[in-house]
Amino acid sequence: MTPPLRFGILGTGNIAHQFAQGVSASSRCLIQAVGSRSHQSARVFAQQHDVPGPHGSYDALLNDPEVDAVYISLPNSMHHEWTIKALQGGKHVLCEKPIACSEAQACEMFQAAEQAGLVLVEAFMYRSHPLTQAVLAEIRNGVVGRVKLIRASFCYHTNKVEGNVRFSPELAGGALMDVGCYCLDLARLVTAAEPVTIQCTGKRHSTGVDEYACGTLGYDNGLMATFCCGVSVQTDNTAMICGDKGFISVPVPWKPPQTGARYQIETMTPPKQDASRAKQPEKRVFELDAGGTLYGMEADDFAATVWNEKPPVVPGVDSLANMRVLEELRRRMVWI
Ligand SMILES: NC(=O)c1ccc[n+]([C@@H]2O[C@H](COP(=O)([O-])OP(=O)(O)OC[C@H]3O[C@@H](n4cnc5c(N)ncnc54)[C@H](OP(=O)(O)O)[C@@H]3O)[C@@H](O)[C@H]2O)c1
Repeated sequence: MTPPLRFGILGTGNIAHQFAQGVSASSRCLIQAVGSRSHQSARVFAQQHDVPGPHGSYDALLNDPEVDAVYISLPNSMHHEWTIKALQGGKHVLCEKPIACSEAQACEMFQAAEQAGLVLVEAFMYRSHPLTQAVLAEIRNGVVGRVKLIRASFCYHTNKVEGNVRFSPELAGGALMDVGCYCLDLARLVTAAEPVTIQCTGKRHSTGVDEYACGTLGYDNGLMATFCCGVSVQTDNTAMICGDKGFISVPVPWKPPQTGARYQIETMTPPKQDASRAKQPEKRVFELDAGGTLYGMEADDFAATVWNEKPPVVPGVDSLANMRVLEELRRRMVWI
């Protein structure tokens, strides 16, 4: 049997904890080491998650021969630098989303992976949940007919502004980078196409980042994808894929639960609003269980790619194309 893939984590923040916890349920991967700017943080993290190798610097983690792959959980602005350093140090890389700050940066990162003959994957964990694959299969099987609209939201409200990477323009924060990227990635999964029109309106926070934003992508086959994202507002955080025969809604698309993950398909003739009609729209609810924790499944998928068992769940071409759209949206954002 292949020995487990040994991860080293760069950074000891919010998602690093969630990742370590999720991976602890995996039988194919383990957390071998953690690297922090501070010895103390690395030690505390290592103790909490039973990690054998705490390192008081990122370079020390990259030099750890026991580490096969690096999980980059650093602020967005640091993904490019540390992914390339890790690849040049001979480590595979699973890098948090969004993979970079620009398409040019992402290109350099994938070139570095190719030169080193190593794997680089962007960490869109929701792609590893069977719910995402089930919804895609329904769409491809034509259950909603020809897809014309995609509607997605990912927002939350945080009071923590001071010291929060999401509110820092220097660290490439902002709602679009933090959570809007999920909505864009879903649009890519469904359409597998490039948008031909891009519009975005953003509310500028006093720190300079977009604290919430809404936008529309248009495709040359008539499809439109709309999204809302925010770090200072709450929404339903759902996704809906609508076609000429009906629509699929996903109540929890981004962090689906391990058990009882749901989607529903509604076909709407006659119109749903017409409650007086005897025949109500057909609604079918599907529920499924995942075989593991969300971040554990993400790590396992990554390991399977490292071991040549399957292609990456997030192919490099998708990361590059997403980055192109994200960069364009940020560049063209109309501020309020
Ligand atoms: N996939 C997901 O579910 C998910 C969820 C949340 C976030 N993310 C992504 O993960 C990345 C990190 O997000 P997070 O929520 O974990 O952020 P966070 O809690 O602020 O943690 C970031 C870590 O990066 C290190 N760091 C290095 N330079 C820093 C600086 N100048 N300011 C702040 N921290 C710095 C710190 O670790 P040390 O002090 O130990 O060096 C810090 O703990 C982002 O790219 C984000 O988009 C993904």
